Amino acid sequence: ETVEWEAASYDMGGHDTFMHKEISEQPDAVDRVLRGRIDDRFSTVHLGGLNLDPREARTIRRIKILGCGTSYHAGLIGAGLIESMARIPADAEPASEFRYRNPVVDPDTLYIAVSQSGETYDVLAAVQELKRKGARVLGVVNVVGSAIAREADGGVYVHAGPEVCVVSTKCFTNTVTAFALLALHLGRIRDLSVTDGKRIIEGLRKLPAQIQEILETEDEIKKIAEEYAGAQSMMFIGRVRGYPVALEASLKLKEISYIHAEAYPASELKHGPLALIEPALPTVAIVPDDDLLEKNRAALEEIKARSGRILAVAHQEQAKADHTIVVPKNEDELDPILMGIPLQLLAYHTALAMGRDIDKPRNLAKSVTVE
Ligand code: G6P
Repeated sequence: ETVEWEAASYDMGGHDTFMHKEISEQPDAVDRVLRGRIDDRFSTVHLGGLNLDPREARTIRRIKILGCGTSYHAGLIGAGLIESMARIPADAEPASEFRYRNPVVDPDTLYIAVSQSGETYDVLAAVQELKRKGARVLGVVNVVGSAIAREADGGVYVHAGPEVCVVSTKCFTNTVTAFALLALHLGRIRDLSVTDGKRIIEGLRKLPAQIQEILETEDEIKKIAEEYAGAQSMMFIGRVRGYPVALEASLKLKEISYIHAEAYPASELKHGPLALIEPALPTVAIVPDDDLLEKNRAALEEIKARSGRILAVAHQEQAKADHTIVVPKNEDELDPILMGIPLQLLAYHTALAMGRDIDKPRNLAKSVTVE
C-alpha cells in the first residue's frame, strides 16, 4: 500500500500543481482519518495507537501541544477542541520556543507533538528533551514510521497521504480532524455526554461532503482572489475558534503569494491594528454563526467605518462585507475545519494570479530537518 501511495503522490493527476491536487483531495483525506475509528455504540472513537488507558487519561491535568508552522496552527485549533470537548486546559506553542525557555515539565501534563513529516528538527528535539525529563509525549503525525512517530509514546496518525507541495493543506485539515477525534475520545472518557458525543460524530461524518461543497465554489473564490491579488498587505481576523484559522490563512497567503499578511484576534483591532485600516488594506474576517457572531459583526463595522475592504468567510452573507464566501454550517466545534478550506483556495488563486511558483515558494522547504 505504501508503494502505491508513493507512486500516486508524484503524479499531478490532471491538476496544474500539487497544491491544487492536494486541496482537491481533502474530502477523501478526511474520510480516511475518520475511517474505522468511530464507535457509534458508545458515541466515541477508538484510536489504536494512543497507548493511553482510560485511568491514565483521567489523571491528565493539562495538555501542551508543540509544532512548527502550519502544524503549530493545527495544534492551536486542537487545543481549543480539547478544551471544549474534554475540558482539559490545553494550549499550543511553537516547538522551537518551548525548547529554549527551559519549560517546567510537569508529570500531570500530556505533551503532544504535531508534525506532517515527523522529521522537523525543532519538534523532534522538543520531544527528546521532554522524554529525557520523563514526560509522556504523544504524536499527531502524518508520515508513518517517521522520527517523531518513533520517539513518541503513542499517538494518532492523520492519514492525509503523501503531501508534495511545500505548503500544507490536506495535512492541516486532517491534523485538525485528528485532534477532533482525540478531543472526543478524551471527552467521552471524562465528562462529555453521550448526546454531545453523538452530535460531534454526526458533525464529523458530514465533513467530507461539506468540504466537497466548498470546493465546488472554487470559481467564485478565484474571482475574489483576482481582485485582491494586487494588495500590498492583508489583514486576517477571527475570534477564539476563528483566530487560528486566521493565522493559518495569513501564513498560507504569505508563503505562496509573498503578500505581507498578518492575523489578529478581532478583539485586538482597537488596541493597535485599526491604525492600519484604509481602502488599500483588505481584511479577511472569519465570521461563524456561533455565540461570537455579534462581536465579529461589530468588528466588521469598525473596519467599514474606516473604509476598509472586507472579505468575510461566514455561514451567511455579511452586510458589512464587500464579499462573503458562504460555507456550510457544522457543529460549532468543527466549523474551523471547514472555514480554512476556502482560504486555501484564496491563497492559491491569489498566488496563481501573481504568477508565483506555488509548489516551491522561494526560501522555503517542505521539511526543516536542521535547527
Ligand atoms: C516547514 C514547511 C511548513 C510546515 C513546517 C512544519 O516550515 O514549509 O509548511 O508547516 O515545516 O513541518 P511539519 O512536517 O513538522 O509539519
